[in-house]
Amino acid sequence: MFRMLMALLLSMTVVTTPHAQEAVTPDRSATGGAQTLEDILARQRGEEVDNSFRRNNIGDPDGAPGLGTQLGTLGGASDPELWRALRFGEAKITASNDGPASTTLIQDGGMRWLTFRQGPLATYGAYLLGGTILLLGLFYLIRGRIRIDGEKTGRKIERFKAIERFGHWMLAGSFVLLGLTGLISLFGRKVLIPAFGHEAFATVAVGSKWIHNNVSWAFMIALVMIFVMWVIHNLPDRTDINWLLKGGGIFSKGHPPAKKFNAGQKLIFWSVIVFGTSISVSGIALLFPFELNMFAATFAKLNSLGIPEALGFGQLRETLAPHEEMQYAQLWHAMMSFVLMAIILAHIYIGTVGMEGAYDAMGSGEVEEQWAREHHSIWVEEVQAKKQSSSESATPAE
Ligand code: HEM
Repeated sequence: MFRMLMALLLSMTVVTTPHAQEAVTPDRSATGGAQTLEDILARQRGEEVDNSFRRNNIGDPDGAPGLGTQLGTLGGASDPELWRALRFGEAKITASNDGPASTTLIQDGGMRWLTFRQGPLATYGAYLLGGTILLLGLFYLIRGRIRIDGEKTGRKIERFKAIERFGHWMLAGSFVLLGLTGLISLFGRKVLIPAFGHEAFATVAVGSKWIHNNVSWAFMIALVMIFVMWVIHNLPDRTDINWLLKGGGIFSKGHPPAKKFNAGQKLIFWSVIVFGTSISVSGIALLFPFELNMFAATFAKLNSLGIPEALGFGQLRETLAPHEEMQYAQLWHAMMSFVLMAIILAHIYIGTVGMEGAYDAMGSGEVEEQWAREHHSIWVEEVQAKKQSSSESATPAE
């Protein structure tokens, strides 16, 4: 099996390597070296076109005839050459404003970004959220509410302290607001303008943007809070393997033992931390335009590791205009958010309608002892042993 896999990988490299070498320079004599109809059509088809023949064809100011020669100077670069220099970021520009993007007068990533944002991003994002809601509905119909199996004891155990619940609800409240306002920004043009008109949408859009930009700080603070408070309970250990092998006991009788957080919850925790951090960093890049350029450097690192080649994406571009950095930051921010939203939908389901007794943990902070015994048996024992030892040490020795 391993050999077959290696052979497949090898054959892929063998197939892809000559492909890159085969690229022969097209005959552009008919256009005097300028781009041909084939070049334009290939670009319109979205194919990669080697633009070096244009990038390098930007004239030579030093080669201009001297002023004293007959008819004076014609300059060292023609208008088309100057436009090409602007187009490829090679022109020497001085601008009155010295912002990071001020000297990039032309960048051509905008259309690619726009079509991706309106097309695949919106479509697959909507499928992902819609599909998750459908699956959760289906799961509810098949499995129903996960009930407390045993008899309730009427006794309560403290599960989360007030500060933990505060951190959780700050994270949850801000995430829901960010999710809704983010979706309004992405789908507003397609869904809200046809339904409510431009004027109403303009007000909603301005409000959404304000909420989205400002509430983001609450999300980031809460993310740090829950990381600090809960990371210790979310480190993987041996109980997680057993819990996962038994599928969390979702479809079987009896629940696998678990500590404070079971493996399913640990996966939620780490998804929130990893995706939440990625969303936060790309969000900061969008909040402070052109200040935090990460994509060209990341693409260069990935290229040096050969990852994009191995996945069939060829070499990723290592030189990006500042605007393109922003475009990638926006797409990444939205993609990571869609994935986290889908995960959080499942989390909200299990924390409310999906499981009897779960909500109390974040509501009042106290859970029914029987619920705790069924879902977090090791944790209950630890808590009770601690209680006992502290009550014993509090009792004066006779
Ligand atoms: C808005 C509705 C939400 C409800 C009703 C809810 C409910 C809960 C409950 C009941 C728990 C405790 C589970 C237990 O006792 O074991 C919990 C834990 C947790 N929540 Fe939420 N939550 C919500 C939203 C969110 C959001 C938006 C996030 C993050 C963006 C989040 C992140 C977490 C994390 C990381 C944990 C700890 C791990 C886990 O139990 O899965 N929650 N939530």
